[in-house]
Amino acid sequence: MSKPKRIGVLTAGGDCPGLNAAIRGVGKTAIVEHGMEVIGFTAGYSGLINKEYVELDEHSLSGILTLGGTILGTSREKPFKMGEGDPNKPELIVQNYHDLGLDCVVCIGGNGTMKTAAKLSDLGINVIGIPKTIDNDVWGTDVTFGFDSALGIATEAIDRLHTTANSHQRAMVIEVMGHHAGWIALYAGMAAGGDIILVPEIDFSIGAVCKRIEKRFEDKKPYSIVVVAEGIKVPKKGMTAAQFVTENIQLFTGIETRETRLGYIQRGGSPSPMDRILATRYGAFAAELIAKGEYGNMVAMKGNKLEAVGLKEVGGKLRLIEPGNNMVRKARNMGISFGDE
Ligand code: F6P
Repeated sequence: MSKPKRIGVLTAGGDCPGLNAAIRGVGKTAIVEHGMEVIGFTAGYSGLINKEYVELDEHSLSGILTLGGTILGTSREKPFKMGEGDPNKPELIVQNYHDLGLDCVVCIGGNGTMKTAAKLSDLGINVIGIPKTIDNDVWGTDVTFGFDSALGIATEAIDRLHTTANSHQRAMVIEVMGHHAGWIALYAGMAAGGDIILVPEIDFSIGAVCKRIEKRFEDKKPYSIVVVAEGIKVPKKGMTAAQFVTENIQLFTGIETRETRLGYIQRGGSPSPMDRILATRYGAFAAELIAKGEYGNMVAMKGNKLEAVGLKEVGGKLRLIEPGNNMVRKARNMGISFGDE
């Protein structure tokens, strides 16, 4: 009989709901279905550099499906970005990989994590990537886990702003996360009836935003909900997106305007049912790829089908809202403004 495969799992980058579901999905499938041994590196790539890990078995992988965050911890460590005096981190990783007798490392993370995973693959390490992030901006897959949970939280928050906006006849500005991408703003704005949605991918003018709000007042719609992605271009240094938009609406329209920044609330807590399922499916598929020896890939969802996409193709790219995006078109057709007309 051949020696069982031994794999390492790590979670890197910002945490998000569903990480534990993915760890459980890959770990349990690897152990139960394929008889592999599994270890978990702590604090992202730092654990791989410093050889810090825990053994994972069926017992330790139980009871974690619904937990937010990551039982392994995470960090934004980028092993290929070395400062002066740093040890040769990629070299340490390769050495640790061999010392620990690993057959593969499963890297669960966003764009940065996939980029690093692709570079490790170039160094001869067997790697599989699993895409996560609330931002939903990993290239090569239709969807990342974490997004649906964040969307649910953002949507509920915007729903709750409607009452104050209506009662006080105010403009309410809410800033959501997304880094360089506007997916959370677009989807939450659509789901919660935003009147204006500002995303980094569509250039806006504050004049057009104010005009739309004034027009709504004239049309006897005395309140407005403005959903703003954190990554929009803010012409004033040191100001957040929400601050800039709020201050300018108040200044130019005279309409009472309030801001809300949702922040890390969007990344916290238990994953939504859809994220639990997606993360579990990604994890299970990753274990299957390892069993077949199909390394150097990221698991991805295309349509409703799981696929393997080469990490080389993914690394360094972002999936952003494209011009002509169908959802944007539908929103415009309903009178929602993107601040560009
Ligand atoms: O990538 C997820 C995300 O929450 C982004 O939406 C946000 O810009 C960033 O992480 C915040 O990062 P940090 O946790 O380092 O503050």
